[in-house]
Amino acid sequence: MAVPAALQAALANARQVCVLTGAGVSAESGVPTFREAGTGLWAQYSPHELATPEAFARDPALVWRWYRWRRDLVAGVEPNPGHRALARLAELVPSLALVTQNVDGLHQRAGSSGVIEYHGNLFGNRCFENGCDFSEADPPTGTAADPASGIPLCPRCGGMLRPGVVWFGEPIPSRTLRLADDAAAACDLFFSIGTSALVWPAAGLAEIAARRGATVIEINRETTDLSGRAACRLQGKSGEILPELVNCLARNRQHSL
Ligand code: OAD
Repeated sequence: MAVPAALQAALANARQVCVLTGAGVSAESGVPTFREAGTGLWAQYSPHELATPEAFARDPALVWRWYRWRRDLVAGVEPNPGHRALARLAELVPSLALVTQNVDGLHQRAGSSGVIEYHGNLFGNRCFENGCDFSEADPPTGTAADPASGIPLCPRCGGMLRPGVVWFGEPIPSRTLRLADDAAAACDLFFSIGTSALVWPAAGLAEIAARRGATVIEINRETTDLSGRAACRLQGKSGEILPELVNCLARNRQHSL
């Protein structure tokens, strides 16, 4: 794929880049996406039975079994060239904010730092019953479990712990929301990568960026709700397109030294 000249120029001149990633970025690592027909998680499982506070209250053991399966799946895969290219991009541009809807931690494992985890982290735990504040490092977080159900218990109150992700019907934590909104508002180049751009408020970040005059670029295998409004679309796999894009920027940087 040849990187369009206009995109090369936008990248070379960008002062602040904001990247929003979605499940498609981890697809080439072997992590299922959500909405793709047949293979997407929400094509096989009901979010209403597994990813709402009501579902957890109804059957916490079922919800935990599903999240443990996802934890095991993610623990067994590796970051792909797309994740690694984004970590390298941060070293090539003056400033980069990486906002991810993914809960798999693969950006961090690829070397990205300061990642804004919009929907939380699969490996985190939160107190479901009393919202207790505790450090993940405090023993015995997640080790003490109810003997009958295997549900991990809060180190503070002894109530049930839940996975540290944002579920349907729950707000994004206010600090995360602010960091992401600020990054989108401050950037001059915004990338939406591997996301169906259907889930709000994450889908609104591209709008915030565009309203402030940023150039919006989409990288996706398919067209999405955002495609018609993006200044440039690169259609294909992020694990192939991102390394090319970043190599192209690195080459141009060397030439201009
Ligand atoms: P989706 O499953 O909705 O969309 C995945 C997108 O990735 C689709 O547009 C695919 O075309 C694209 N895609 C697949 N493979 C790709 C590849 N190799 N390279 C580039 N693009 C590819 O996933 P998200 O948009 O991330 O929320 O979903 C958003 C949120 O909905 C998730 O964070 C999750 C889910 O419910 C929560 O769990 C709170």
